[in-house]
Amino acid sequence: MIFGRIKSLDAILATAEKKSLHRSLGAFQLTMLGIGAVIGTGIFVLTAEAAQKAGPGMMLSFVIAGLVCAVAALCYAEMAAMVPVSGSAYTYSYAVMGELVAWMVGWALILEYAIAAGAVSVGWSGYFIGWLNTSFHLSIPLEWVRGPFDGGIINLPAMAVATAVTALLVKGTKESATVNAVLVGVKIIALTMFVILTIPVIKTGQFTPFAPLGFAGISGAAASIFFAYVGFDAVSTAAEETKNPQRNMPIGLIGSLAVCTIFYMLVASGVIGTVGAQPVFGPNHEVLSPGTPALAQACTAIQEQAVVCSKEALAWTLKSIGYPFVGWLVGAAAIIALPSVILMMMFGQTRIFFVMSRDGLLPEFFSRIHPRFHTPHVITILTGIFVALFAAFFPVGLLADVSNSGTLFAFAAVSIAVMVLRRTDPARVRPFRTPLIMIIAPLSIIGCVYLFFSLSLFTIELFVAWALLGLVVYFLYSRNRSHVGRGLSEHHEGDAEIHPGPGAA
Ligand code: ALA
Repeated sequence: MIFGRIKSLDAILATAEKKSLHRSLGAFQLTMLGIGAVIGTGIFVLTAEAAQKAGPGMMLSFVIAGLVCAVAALCYAEMAAMVPVSGSAYTYSYAVMGELVAWMVGWALILEYAIAAGAVSVGWSGYFIGWLNTSFHLSIPLEWVRGPFDGGIINLPAMAVATAVTALLVKGTKESATVNAVLVGVKIIALTMFVILTIPVIKTGQFTPFAPLGFAGISGAAASIFFAYVGFDAVSTAAEETKNPQRNMPIGLIGSLAVCTIFYMLVASGVIGTVGAQPVFGPNHEVLSPGTPALAQACTAIQEQAVVCSKEALAWTLKSIGYPFVGWLVGAAAIIALPSVILMMMFGQTRIFFVMSRDGLLPEFFSRIHPRFHTPHVITILTGIFVALFAAFFPVGLLADVSNSGTLFAFAAVSIAVMVLRRTDPARVRPFRTPLIMIIAPLSIIGCVYLFFSLSLFTIELFVAWALLGLVVYFLYSRNRSHVGRGLSEHHEGDAEIHPGPGAA
């Protein structure tokens, strides 16, 4: 029975580590938290990939992806405020739709978090190499700084940054509100400088043809650029620490999404209007996908003289329009700020694994806690190894797309769970209620399905293969060991010990 083995919400809440967190976050801090988690590789790097898919029409792609995130965010917020415990979408699904759905959501979240951490590491590497090049005129052989699909062999800087973040997480880093505020400031200043320098010199002619690859191209770019918005769920997970969540949660969620959307639109117009954003075609005018050897070759043929060829799109644009120093500064800002996005993603991953292992669905040794650092070191190191390998060998666009497939699945599941729970448990106290739920939740589900099917066929096939593998693991391993299935009560003495990690107040 698909929807069997439901974990009771009361049990989840009772056994959750009750840290009785101080309600200190207001609308402004929540918005900052969201912006901190959201702005990253998406805008700094994937703008080039979106241009290759949609041309100037990528402006519309940013709006579509932002709207889907906004409705999904409102559904997330109701769940997060009601069940403010680790595990996010996985935990909500366990309580509402049972173990099998929860397992599939948790399995998909591995794509969301671990693969996204890999994507941001690759994005970081592009800026780091470009910056080294400009600063010291070092020309590092491409073989060592790009994966095999991108004209290289292995991406060593991406591996290095993933490894460094893993080490930080094992040691236990608590990214303080101050560090977050500084990094948000760095990103906002960098994007603002970009906007101030590019918008005045926009040439409207660069916007035509607006959609060289049609609406399909715009949808495909929206599905990829969705990555630029991922991370806002960090806001919803802070529900327990929020003052007046009914008012502040939607402001924090929608506020951070709105700020990011406005910045993204301005930055995208800055890129399009100055250096142009027409896709690069193959020798016979064939359409080339980002992150493929064919595009790498076509770019070499034009001496990389198109923004879609750049691995550091924003810095490249500024250099091309005569601001090399500001380009250098924007590169430095990306190098400083992107590791915190990797940290958030890897932290999210380790905590999801931790909860799944605590539920018996993954091996118990995953949730071992380091005696001195109080971090789940085993699972952190395992996650780090996989993230470093993804980062070493795969192009940023493919990683981002695969991550999006998992995220869209999880968002759709949460949107369904919110509606189901309104029916099955109407009396439960909801610190935040999704407004107009019968419109917002279905819109969110439709939006997620639409973006999912706008991903490339290859990405969808990878997702299906991953999901099937998940089912095999569930039926061969997890189902028999599940604590809920075995009727075990939960004892989490170790949880009080666990390090709170980034985002904790
Ligand atoms: N939204 C995050 C980024 O763009 C994941 O890097």
